[in-house]
Amino acid sequence: MKIAVLGTGMVGQAHAARLIDLGHAVYMGTRNPKKGPADSANQLNSWIEAHPSVKLMTFAEAAQRSEMIINALNGEIAVTVLKSIEAGLGDKVVIDISNPLDFSKGMPPRLSVSNNDSLGEQLQSALPKVSVVKTLNTVNCLIQVEPKRLAAADHTVFVSGNNMAAKETVIRLLQEYGWRRIIDLGDIETARGAEMYMPLWLRLMDSLKTVDFNLKIVVNE
Ligand SMILES: NC(=O)c1ccc[n+]([C@@H]2O[C@H](COP(=O)([O-])OP(=O)(O)OC[C@H]3O[C@@H](n4cnc5c(N)ncnc54)[C@H](OP(=O)(O)O)[C@@H]3O)[C@@H](O)[C@H]2O)c1
Repeated sequence: MKIAVLGTGMVGQAHAARLIDLGHAVYMGTRNPKKGPADSANQLNSWIEAHPSVKLMTFAEAAQRSEMIINALNGEIAVTVLKSIEAGLGDKVVIDISNPLDFSKGMPPRLSVSNNDSLGEQLQSALPKVSVVKTLNTVNCLIQVEPKRLAAADHTVFVSGNNMAAKETVIRLLQEYGWRRIIDLGDIETARGAEMYMPLWLRLMDSLKTVDFNLKIVVNE
């Protein structure tokens, strides 16, 4: 599949590398595609050299060329950036991994949207033609793409979205990554719960002194 990964941070890099390993074509979106190859001080430069199959291009071009989009953008600018490339997004599936973290008052970050709204809903309402599926934002990026990093095979990931066919497409990709316990929370409004887990995730990281952990939901069958 042709997949756009928007964002070149640690999340974008983790997904791009894993998708290439799985045989997908990856178009990686960035503000300035020339900057990586041109700037030897930029860590992206060496990463791109190590992953020659990943094609670096503008956000708009990556969206235009792909069949599905992964939003791995900084949460504070995700709506603005995606809205600016709306034409290229068309009616595609947008996998939203971003978290609405506001670092302006220091650590730990606060949520910039919560309770009766979420970043997932803001994206869906700004882009009514696309199908936003919120997922994977509740785990570190290395676990997102390789859940078997954690010994417990059946730890949990969530999906939220209005379009059932889009969620099924995303669930298939999650299964390719290795996820086995995927809980469909419901429509995109349920992204509120996944995003509002972030304050607890951040405290768990401080207490456990690692990012290698996840929730495992246990139910009496
Ligand atoms: N780190 C994790 O393990 C983890 C886990 C779960 C969820 N998340 C969420 O995943 C998302 C990505 O996280 P990250 O740590 O990889 O990256 P990040 O540092 O939050 O930023 C990712 C991308 O955002 C773009 N960006 C930043 N400011 C911009 C601006 N003013 N205009 C346009 N683009 C801008 C950058 O594009 P350029 O390529 O142009 O620099 C960058 O590649 C975040 O929303 C984060 O909360 C992260």
